[in-house]
Amino acid sequence: MKILIIGSGGREYAIGWKLALSEIPTKLYFAPGNGGTPYYGENVPIKANEIKALARFAEEKKIDLTIVGPEEPLVLGIVDTFRKRKLAIFGPDRYCATLEGSKIFAKSFMDRHKIPTAGHWVFEASEKEKLISFLKTSTFPIVLKADGLAAGKGVIIPQNLEEALNAVQLYFDQKSFGNAGDKVVVEEFMDGEEATVFVLTDGTTYRVFPAAQDHKRIGDGDTGKNTGGMGAYAPAPVCTPEIMKIVDDTIIKPTLDGLRSENHPYTGILYVGLMITDDGPKVVEYNVRFGDPECQVEMMLLETDLLKLMEEVADGKLKSEIQFRNGFASVVVAAAKGYPDAYEKGKEITFTSKDNPDKRIFHAGTKLAGGKVVSDGGRVLGIVGFGDTLEKSLERAYQHIKTVSFDGMIYRKDIGKKGIEALERNSK
Ligand code: AMP
Ligand code: GLY
Repeated sequence: MKILIIGSGGREYAIGWKLALSEIPTKLYFAPGNGGTPYYGENVPIKANEIKALARFAEEKKIDLTIVGPEEPLVLGIVDTFRKRKLAIFGPDRYCATLEGSKIFAKSFMDRHKIPTAGHWVFEASEKEKLISFLKTSTFPIVLKADGLAAGKGVIIPQNLEEALNAVQLYFDQKSFGNAGDKVVVEEFMDGEEATVFVLTDGTTYRVFPAAQDHKRIGDGDTGKNTGGMGAYAPAPVCTPEIMKIVDDTIIKPTLDGLRSENHPYTGILYVGLMITDDGPKVVEYNVRFGDPECQVEMMLLETDLLKLMEEVADGKLKSEIQFRNGFASVVVAAAKGYPDAYEKGKEITFTSKDNPDKRIFHAGTKLAGGKVVSDGGRVLGIVGFGDTLEKSLERAYQHIKTVSFDGMIYRKDIGKKGIEALERNSK
């Protein structure tokens, strides 16, 4: 089978690694891929948002299945375009992708289908004074979100009125989030622990991946700026079987049923960002693809042939069961100095050990230059460990990270700490 994987991060590398292990022989293409993906296939110099060029490539090469990694092409409607041209594709259509493309759309959808989430109010740029008056009578912390796609950076959680007024300026006066911030959603602050559930679905039938926990802040102890994610582990012990049952009944089923009832059955991977509150699990956000780096740990745990699962989903006939290794996987992200602000690129990366089934290095922001692998993004590598226990998986990831280096490499030292605390709580 000829497969095209769209994207260039650790997520796409991990998907490629897993597809290359399929019992179905494959020829993989990555558009545009990274410095590690040529190990599994061919990099094609087309960007993830160049939908027409991607469709042309898929037609010319007679690609049997296209897999979309990142959100941007999905929100732009790549799935609708490919389907119109009778090209098989794995991912949700544009309507479903709006769950990630517009926070307002996602909130109204959850209201329509009575899916538990934080209460919310919407303000447009022309309603700045109204928003300021609203904030003056609010309790803090409160949550402000740019409506549109903002690479995970459009959320501000002011602790007091002064911070809230500064945030209003960022959205409406300084336009820090461009058009994405022309409308702002104000949300109630939910207290609790976060976790992410990935659902593989053809719109009706679905399979759930082990819950994962991301680490969004740059610094240890969840301090500093928000990033795309500095580490993850799965299964996340905070999502006990009892909680997963509630998530299934009150969130996953109503979400998939709701989309079907709106004539847009969801196909692909649905990312459900959860807050486990004292009132039960609530939705923080939907994304319409795998999270990165969470995808890396999910791929490390997955035992079922990924290609078979994705093909069934693209055909609208998911029937295979899904199986995972017994144990835990953890990923520590090695990032470039300066990230998530301006960072250095082009640093040579040295690798001094080989991967094995319990320790792997996933390329993310890398590229090949003159036969060498150099850094080319903020999040450069994902170092993944597997173990029977969460501690063991973390120990392996942290051992393995010692075998790679590049100038200015930074990483968090406390990945998985919350998971170990949750395990201790659960065992009491
Ligand atoms: P989002 O892009 O919607 O996932 O928001 C980014 C981050 O902001 C989330 O991962 C949470 O840590 C935090 N967040 C978003 N919404 C809320 C909320 N209503 N209450 C508390 N924290 C939130
Ligand atoms: N790691 C979070 C995301 O992919 O959005």
